[in-house]
Amino acid sequence: MQKQLKIGLFGFGCVGGGLYEVLQQTPGFKADILKICVKDRKKKRPAQVQGFTFDKDDILADPEINLVVELIDDPKEAFEIVKTAMQRGKAVVSANKKMIAEHMEELHALQQAYKVPFLYEASVCGSIPVIRNLEEYYDNDLLSSIAGICNGTTNYILTRTIEDNRGYEEVLRDAQALGFAESDPTLDVEGFDAKYKLVILIAHTFGLFVAPEEVYNLGISTLGEADVAFAREKGLKIKLLSRAFKSGGQVLGWVMPTFVTEDDPFYNVHNEYNAVKIGAAFTDSQLFVGKGAGSFPTASAVLSDISAISYGYRYEYKKALQNGDAPFSNDLSLRVYLRYEEEHQLEGLAWEELEVAHKQKGSNYIIGKINLADLIAYDPKARGVFAALYE
Ligand code: HSE
Repeated sequence: MQKQLKIGLFGFGCVGGGLYEVLQQTPGFKADILKICVKDRKKKRPAQVQGFTFDKDDILADPEINLVVELIDDPKEAFEIVKTAMQRGKAVVSANKKMIAEHMEELHALQQAYKVPFLYEASVCGSIPVIRNLEEYYDNDLLSSIAGICNGTTNYILTRTIEDNRGYEEVLRDAQALGFAESDPTLDVEGFDAKYKLVILIAHTFGLFVAPEEVYNLGISTLGEADVAFAREKGLKIKLLSRAFKSGGQVLGWVMPTFVTEDDPFYNVHNEYNAVKIGAAFTDSQLFVGKGAGSFPTASAVLSDISAISYGYRYEYKKALQNGDAPFSNDLSLRVYLRYEEEHQLEGLAWEELEVAHKQKGSNYIIGKINLADLIAYDPKARGVFAALYE
Protein backbone atom coordinates (compact mmCIF):
# COMPACT_ATOMS: atom_id res chain seq x y z
CA MET A 1 0.00 0.00 0.00
CA GLN A 2 1.24 3.43 -0.89
CA LYS A 3 1.82 5.63 2.12
CA GLN A 4 0.64 9.26 2.05
CA LEU A 5 3.78 11.34 2.39
CA LYS A 6 3.96 14.72 4.08
CA ILE A 7 7.24 16.28 3.08
CA GLY A 8 9.46 18.79 4.84
CA LEU A 9 11.89 20.09 2.23
CA PHE A 10 15.27 21.61 3.07
CA GLY A 11 16.68 23.79 0.29
CA PHE A 12 15.01 25.43 -2.67
CA GLY A 13 17.98 25.86 -5.02
CA CYS A 14 18.76 24.11 -8.27
CA VAL A 15 17.56 20.65 -7.14
CA GLY A 16 14.93 21.72 -4.55
CA GLY A 17 13.28 24.09 -7.03
CA GLY A 18 13.48 21.37 -9.70
CA LEU A 19 11.82 18.87 -7.37
CA TYR A 20 8.97 21.29 -6.67
CA GLU A 21 8.29 21.64 -10.40
CA VAL A 22 8.65 17.93 -11.07
CA LEU A 23 6.10 17.20 -8.31
CA GLN A 24 3.65 19.70 -9.89
CA GLN A 25 3.94 17.76 -13.14
CA THR A 26 3.23 14.35 -11.62
CA PRO A 27 -0.41 14.62 -10.55
CA GLY A 28 -1.74 11.64 -8.66
CA PHE A 29 1.53 11.19 -6.82
CA LYS A 30 0.73 11.01 -3.14
CA ALA A 31 3.20 13.49 -1.68
CA ASP A 32 2.61 17.01 -0.44
CA ILE A 33 5.34 19.45 0.45
CA LEU A 34 4.09 20.96 3.71
CA LYS A 35 7.07 23.18 4.52
CA ILE A 36 10.24 24.37 2.83
CA CYS A 37 13.15 25.48 5.00
CA VAL A 38 15.51 27.96 3.31
CA LYS A 39 18.51 29.99 4.54
CA ASP A 40 18.53 33.22 2.58
CA ARG A 41 15.89 35.62 3.91
CA LYS A 42 16.46 38.17 1.14
CA LYS A 43 16.14 35.87 -1.85
CA LYS A 44 12.92 36.32 -3.83
CA ARG A 45 10.81 33.14 -3.90
CA PRO A 46 8.10 32.25 -6.44
CA ALA A 47 4.79 33.70 -5.22
CA GLN A 48 2.81 30.51 -5.93
CA VAL A 49 5.02 28.41 -3.63
CA GLN A 50 3.68 28.19 -0.08
CA GLY A 51 5.18 27.05 3.22
CA PHE A 52 8.59 28.75 3.41
CA THR A 53 10.28 28.89 6.81
CA PHE A 54 13.75 29.83 8.08
CA ASP A 55 13.60 27.65 11.17
CA LYS A 56 14.61 24.00 10.74
CA ASP A 57 12.56 22.97 13.78
CA ASP A 58 9.41 24.00 11.96
CA ILE A 59 10.03 20.84 9.98
CA LEU A 60 11.99 18.62 12.37
CA ALA A 61 9.52 19.11 15.25
CA ASP A 62 6.38 18.80 13.14
CA PRO A 63 4.82 15.39 13.89
CA GLU A 64 2.74 15.54 10.71
CA ILE A 65 5.86 15.53 8.52
CA ASN A 66 6.91 11.93 7.88
CA LEU A 67 9.54 12.52 5.19
CA VAL A 68 12.44 14.97 5.20
CA VAL A 69 13.98 15.76 1.82
CA GLU A 70 17.39 17.33 2.36
CA LEU A 71 18.72 19.29 -0.63
CA ILE A 72 20.97 21.94 0.88
CA ASP A 73 24.56 22.78 0.10
CA ASP A 74 26.28 22.76 3.49
CA PRO A 75 27.32 19.16 4.37
CA LYS A 76 27.71 19.80 8.13
CA GLU A 77 24.28 21.35 8.47
CA ALA A 78 22.87 18.62 6.20
CA PHE A 79 24.23 15.89 8.48
CA GLU A 80 22.65 17.49 11.56
CA ILE A 81 19.30 17.74 9.78
CA VAL A 82 19.42 14.15 8.48
CA LYS A 83 20.53 12.75 11.84
CA THR A 84 17.85 14.60 13.82
CA ALA A 85 15.14 13.65 11.33
CA MET A 86 16.08 9.97 11.59
CA GLN A 87 16.27 10.11 15.37
CA ARG A 88 12.73 11.49 15.30
CA GLY A 89 11.52 8.57 13.20
CA LYS A 90 11.20 10.44 9.91
CA ALA A 91 12.20 8.89 6.59
CA VAL A 92 14.90 10.86 4.78
CA VAL A 93 15.93 11.46 1.17
CA SER A 94 19.16 13.32 0.44
CA ALA A 95 21.35 14.23 -2.54
CA ASN A 96 24.32 15.42 -0.49
CA LYS A 97 27.18 13.19 -1.67
CA LYS A 98 29.88 14.85 0.45
CA MET A 99 27.83 14.49 3.62
CA ILE A 100 26.87 10.89 2.84
CA ALA A 101 30.40 9.80 1.88
CA GLU A 102 31.88 11.37 5.00
CA HIS A 103 29.32 9.74 7.34
CA MET A 104 28.55 6.48 5.57
CA GLU A 105 29.05 4.22 8.57
CA GLU A 106 27.22 6.48 11.00
CA LEU A 107 24.30 6.91 8.63
CA HIS A 108 24.10 3.16 8.22
CA ALA A 109 24.03 2.77 12.02
CA LEU A 110 21.28 5.42 12.33
CA GLN A 111 19.12 3.53 9.84
CA GLN A 112 19.54 0.35 11.86
CA ALA A 113 18.95 2.04 15.21
CA TYR A 114 15.86 4.06 14.29
CA LYS A 115 14.48 1.69 11.64
CA VAL A 116 13.85 4.50 9.18
CA PRO A 117 14.60 4.53 5.46
CA PHE A 118 17.33 6.82 4.17
CA LEU A 119 17.62 6.96 0.37
CA TYR A 120 20.11 8.90 -1.73
CA GLU A 121 19.93 7.86 -5.39
CA ALA A 122 20.38 11.48 -6.52
CA SER A 123 23.75 11.70 -4.77
CA VAL A 124 25.49 9.54 -7.39
CA CYS A 125 25.37 10.20 -11.15
CA GLY A 126 22.19 12.30 -11.10
CA SER A 127 19.45 10.59 -13.02
CA ILE A 128 21.14 7.16 -13.40
CA PRO A 129 19.44 4.64 -11.09
CA VAL A 130 22.66 3.00 -9.98
CA ILE A 131 22.35 2.58 -6.20
CA ARG A 132 19.02 0.85 -6.30
CA ASN A 133 20.28 -1.42 -9.08
CA LEU A 134 23.36 -2.33 -7.08
CA GLU A 135 21.16 -3.06 -4.07
CA GLU A 136 18.42 -5.00 -5.84
CA TYR A 137 19.25 -6.15 -9.35
CA TYR A 138 22.85 -7.12 -8.53
CA ASP A 139 21.77 -8.60 -5.25
CA ASN A 140 23.23 -12.03 -5.89
CA ASP A 141 25.64 -11.50 -8.76
CA LEU A 142 29.28 -11.35 -7.79
CA LEU A 143 30.44 -7.83 -8.48
CA SER A 144 34.03 -7.43 -9.53
CA SER A 145 34.31 -3.79 -10.59
CA ILE A 146 32.62 -0.46 -10.92
CA ALA A 147 33.79 2.46 -13.02
CA GLY A 148 32.16 5.68 -13.99
CA ILE A 149 32.13 9.20 -15.27
CA CYS A 150 30.58 10.49 -12.08
CA ASN A 151 30.99 14.24 -12.41
CA GLY A 152 29.01 16.23 -14.97
CA THR A 153 30.98 19.46 -14.65
CA THR A 154 34.36 17.94 -15.51
CA ASN A 155 32.87 15.85 -18.30
CA TYR A 156 31.35 19.02 -19.71
CA ILE A 157 34.72 20.80 -19.47
CA LEU A 158 36.62 17.89 -21.02
CA THR A 159 34.09 17.61 -23.86
CA ARG A 160 33.90 21.28 -24.70
CA THR A 161 37.65 22.01 -24.45
CA ILE A 162 38.48 19.09 -26.72
CA GLU A 163 35.57 19.41 -29.19
CA ASP A 164 35.37 23.21 -29.45
CA ASN A 165 38.98 24.09 -28.70
CA ARG A 166 37.79 26.51 -26.01
CA GLY A 167 39.67 27.54 -22.88
CA TYR A 168 39.28 25.71 -19.59
CA GLU A 169 38.19 28.75 -17.53
CA GLU A 170 35.59 29.84 -20.07
CA VAL A 171 34.02 26.38 -20.24
CA LEU A 172 34.01 26.08 -16.44
CA ARG A 173 32.04 29.34 -16.26
CA ASP A 174 29.47 27.81 -18.66
CA ALA A 175 29.17 24.71 -16.46
CA GLN A 176 28.52 26.98 -13.47
CA ALA A 177 25.91 29.01 -15.34
CA LEU A 178 24.14 25.79 -16.40
CA GLY A 179 23.84 24.73 -12.75
CA PHE A 180 26.16 21.70 -13.05
CA ALA A 181 29.03 22.86 -10.85
CA GLU A 182 29.18 22.81 -7.04
CA SER A 183 29.08 26.21 -5.33
CA ASP A 184 32.78 25.57 -4.72
CA PRO A 185 33.82 24.23 -8.15
CA THR A 186 37.16 23.02 -6.73
CA LEU A 187 35.16 20.01 -5.54
CA ASP A 188 34.36 19.23 -9.17
CA VAL A 189 37.62 20.02 -10.93
CA GLU A 190 39.93 18.44 -8.33
CA GLY A 191 37.93 15.19 -8.35
CA PHE A 192 36.50 15.40 -4.82
CA ASP A 193 32.88 15.23 -5.95
CA ALA A 194 33.66 12.20 -8.13
CA LYS A 195 35.41 10.63 -5.13
CA TYR A 196 32.46 11.11 -2.75
CA LYS A 197 30.29 9.37 -5.33
CA LEU A 198 32.83 6.56 -5.66
CA VAL A 199 32.86 6.07 -1.87
CA ILE A 200 29.07 5.64 -1.95
CA LEU A 201 29.32 3.25 -4.90
CA ILE A 202 31.98 1.20 -3.10
CA ALA A 203 29.64 0.75 -0.13
CA HIS A 204 26.85 -0.59 -2.35
CA THR A 205 29.13 -2.61 -4.67
CA PHE A 206 31.57 -4.21 -2.25
CA GLY A 207 29.96 -3.55 1.14
CA LEU A 208 32.96 -1.55 2.28
CA PHE A 209 32.62 1.73 4.15
CA VAL A 210 35.81 3.49 3.14
CA ALA A 211 36.69 6.97 4.41
CA PRO A 212 37.02 9.54 1.56
CA GLU A 213 40.57 10.41 2.77
CA GLU A 214 41.70 6.89 1.92
CA VAL A 215 40.68 7.20 -1.73
CA TYR A 216 42.96 9.10 -4.11
CA ASN A 217 41.45 11.86 -6.22
CA LEU A 218 43.32 13.65 -8.96
CA GLY A 219 41.41 16.22 -10.97
CA ILE A 220 41.78 18.14 -14.21
CA SER A 221 42.84 21.62 -13.02
CA THR A 222 46.38 21.16 -14.44
CA LEU A 223 45.07 20.08 -17.86
CA GLY A 224 46.83 22.06 -20.59
CA GLU A 225 46.63 22.56 -24.33
CA ALA A 226 49.51 20.09 -24.79
CA ASP A 227 47.42 17.33 -23.17
CA VAL A 228 44.43 18.09 -25.34
CA ALA A 229 46.71 18.04 -28.41
CA PHE A 230 48.29 14.74 -27.28
CA ALA A 231 44.84 13.14 -26.92
CA ARG A 232 43.72 14.43 -30.30
CA GLU A 233 46.85 13.25 -32.06
CA LYS A 234 46.43 9.74 -30.69
CA GLY A 235 42.66 9.60 -31.32
CA LEU A 236 41.98 9.42 -27.58
CA LYS A 237 39.71 11.29 -25.20
CA ILE A 238 40.36 12.28 -21.63
CA LYS A 239 37.70 11.34 -19.07
CA LEU A 240 37.70 11.80 -15.32
CA LEU A 241 37.01 8.24 -14.20
CA SER A 242 36.08 6.95 -10.76
CA ARG A 243 37.07 3.32 -10.50
CA ALA A 244 37.05 0.53 -7.94
CA PHE A 245 37.57 -3.21 -8.22
CA LYS A 246 38.36 -6.23 -6.16
CA SER A 247 41.71 -7.93 -6.44
CA GLY A 248 43.39 -10.41 -4.13
CA GLY A 249 40.77 -9.95 -1.41
CA GLN A 250 41.28 -6.18 -1.40
CA VAL A 251 39.31 -3.30 -2.82
CA LEU A 252 41.33 -0.83 -4.90
CA GLY A 253 40.04 2.43 -6.25
CA TRP A 254 40.75 6.02 -7.30
CA VAL A 255 39.56 9.03 -9.27
CA MET A 256 41.92 10.08 -12.06
CA PRO A 257 41.89 11.61 -15.52
CA THR A 258 42.14 8.69 -17.95
CA PHE A 259 42.87 8.47 -21.66
CA VAL A 260 40.21 6.35 -23.32
CA THR A 261 40.26 4.77 -26.76
CA GLU A 262 37.47 4.91 -29.35
CA ASP A 263 36.26 1.40 -28.46
CA ASP A 264 35.89 2.29 -24.77
CA PRO A 265 32.21 2.79 -23.78
CA PHE A 266 33.11 6.01 -21.98
CA TYR A 267 34.53 7.56 -25.18
CA ASN A 268 31.15 8.76 -26.43
CA VAL A 269 29.74 9.99 -23.12
CA HIS A 270 29.69 13.76 -23.56
CA ASN A 271 28.92 16.98 -21.74
CA GLU A 272 27.08 16.64 -18.42
CA TYR A 273 26.20 13.03 -19.14
CA ASN A 274 27.52 10.46 -16.68
CA ALA A 275 28.00 6.73 -17.17
CA VAL A 276 28.55 3.78 -14.88
CA LYS A 277 29.98 0.43 -15.93
CA ILE A 278 29.34 -2.49 -13.64
CA GLY A 279 31.42 -5.64 -13.91
CA ALA A 280 29.83 -8.81 -12.53
CA ALA A 281 30.51 -12.52 -12.69
CA PHE A 282 27.38 -13.60 -14.57
CA THR A 283 26.25 -10.50 -16.46
CA ASP A 284 29.83 -9.62 -17.48
CA SER A 285 29.75 -5.86 -18.10
CA GLN A 286 26.85 -3.42 -18.25
CA LEU A 287 26.78 0.29 -18.92
CA PHE A 288 24.28 2.85 -17.64
CA VAL A 289 24.26 6.32 -19.19
CA GLY A 290 22.26 9.41 -18.22
CA LYS A 291 22.41 13.04 -17.24
CA GLY A 292 24.56 13.38 -14.16
CA ALA A 293 23.92 16.99 -13.21
CA GLY A 294 21.34 19.72 -13.55
CA SER A 295 18.08 20.60 -11.89
CA PHE A 296 15.54 18.20 -13.45
CA PRO A 297 17.72 15.09 -13.93
CA THR A 298 18.77 15.25 -10.26
CA ALA A 299 15.22 16.05 -9.15
CA SER A 300 13.98 12.99 -11.06
CA ALA A 301 16.20 10.75 -8.90
CA VAL A 302 14.90 12.47 -5.75
CA LEU A 303 11.34 11.92 -6.96
CA SER A 304 12.06 8.24 -7.52
CA ASP A 305 13.37 7.95 -3.94
CA ILE A 306 10.27 9.68 -2.60
CA SER A 307 8.12 7.24 -4.55
CA ALA A 308 10.18 4.28 -3.26
CA ILE A 309 9.69 5.48 0.31
CA SER A 310 5.93 5.70 -0.24
CA TYR A 311 6.04 1.95 -0.94
CA GLY A 312 8.16 1.20 2.13
CA TYR A 313 11.48 0.62 0.35
CA ARG A 314 14.81 0.86 2.18
CA TYR A 315 18.41 -0.09 1.42
CA GLU A 316 19.47 -3.32 3.07
CA TYR A 317 23.24 -3.01 2.52
CA LYS A 318 23.36 -6.72 1.79
CA LYS A 319 26.93 -6.58 0.46
CA ALA A 320 28.14 -5.16 3.77
CA LEU A 321 26.64 -8.18 5.51
CA GLN A 322 28.09 -10.56 2.92
CA ASN A 323 31.64 -9.31 2.46
CA GLY A 324 32.27 -6.03 4.22
CA ASP A 325 35.65 -7.09 5.56
CA ALA A 326 37.81 -6.62 2.44
CA PRO A 327 40.35 -3.87 3.19
CA PHE A 328 40.97 -0.88 0.94
CA SER A 329 44.39 -0.60 -0.67
CA ASN A 330 46.42 1.76 -2.86
CA ASP A 331 49.12 -0.76 -3.65
CA LEU A 332 48.92 -1.21 -7.41
CA SER A 333 51.10 -0.51 -10.43
CA LEU A 334 49.56 1.95 -12.93
CA ARG A 335 50.62 3.14 -16.37
CA VAL A 336 50.63 6.91 -16.26
CA TYR A 337 51.17 9.87 -18.62
CA LEU A 338 52.75 12.85 -16.92
CA ARG A 339 53.21 16.24 -18.60
CA TYR A 340 55.55 18.80 -17.10
CA GLU A 341 57.38 22.04 -17.90
CA GLU A 342 60.68 21.85 -15.99
CA GLU A 343 62.82 18.87 -14.96
CA HIS A 344 62.72 19.84 -11.26
CA GLN A 345 58.98 19.13 -11.23
CA LEU A 346 59.85 15.44 -11.55
CA GLU A 347 62.01 15.27 -8.42
CA GLY A 348 61.01 12.51 -6.02
CA LEU A 349 59.08 10.54 -8.62
CA ALA A 350 59.60 6.80 -8.10
CA TRP A 351 59.04 5.18 -11.51
CA GLU A 352 58.87 1.41 -11.66
CA GLU A 353 59.45 1.46 -15.40
CA LEU A 354 60.00 4.30 -17.86
CA GLU A 355 58.59 3.74 -21.35
CA VAL A 356 58.52 7.09 -23.17
CA ALA A 357 60.32 10.34 -22.41
CA HIS A 358 59.21 13.01 -24.88
CA LYS A 359 60.86 16.42 -24.79
CA GLN A 360 59.57 19.35 -26.73
CA LYS A 361 59.17 22.83 -25.33
CA GLY A 362 55.69 23.22 -23.88
CA SER A 363 54.96 19.52 -24.12
CA ASN A 364 57.43 17.42 -22.15
CA TYR A 365 55.85 14.19 -21.11
CA ILE A 366 56.75 10.84 -19.68
CA ILE A 367 54.83 7.59 -19.90
CA GLY A 368 55.69 4.83 -17.51
CA LYS A 369 54.64 2.58 -14.66
CA ILE A 370 54.33 3.83 -11.13
CA ASN A 371 52.78 2.45 -7.97
CA LEU A 372 49.61 4.31 -6.99
CA ALA A 373 50.93 4.83 -3.44
CA ASP A 374 54.08 6.46 -4.91
CA LEU A 375 52.02 8.66 -7.20
CA ILE A 376 49.98 9.82 -4.19
CA ALA A 377 53.20 10.60 -2.28
CA TYR A 378 54.62 12.50 -5.29
CA ASP A 379 51.40 14.56 -5.66
CA PRO A 380 51.27 15.70 -9.33
CA LYS A 381 48.77 18.48 -8.59
CA ALA A 382 51.06 20.15 -6.01
CA ARG A 383 53.90 20.07 -8.58
CA GLY A 384 51.76 21.69 -11.28
CA VAL A 385 52.02 18.55 -13.37
CA PHE A 386 49.15 17.01 -15.36
CA ALA A 387 48.88 13.27 -14.84
CA ALA A 388 46.47 10.79 -16.37
CA LEU A 389 46.11 7.05 -16.60
CA TYR A 390 47.37 5.75 -19.94
CA GLU A 391 46.52 2.10 -20.26
N1 HSE B 1 28.61 19.15 -9.43
C1 HSE B 1 28.04 17.86 -9.67
C2 HSE B 1 28.48 17.39 -11.04
C3 HSE B 1 26.55 17.94 -9.57
O1 HSE B 1 28.96 18.21 -11.82
O2 HSE B 1 28.36 16.21 -11.33
C4 HSE B 1 25.85 16.61 -9.58
O3 HSE B 1 26.21 15.81 -8.49
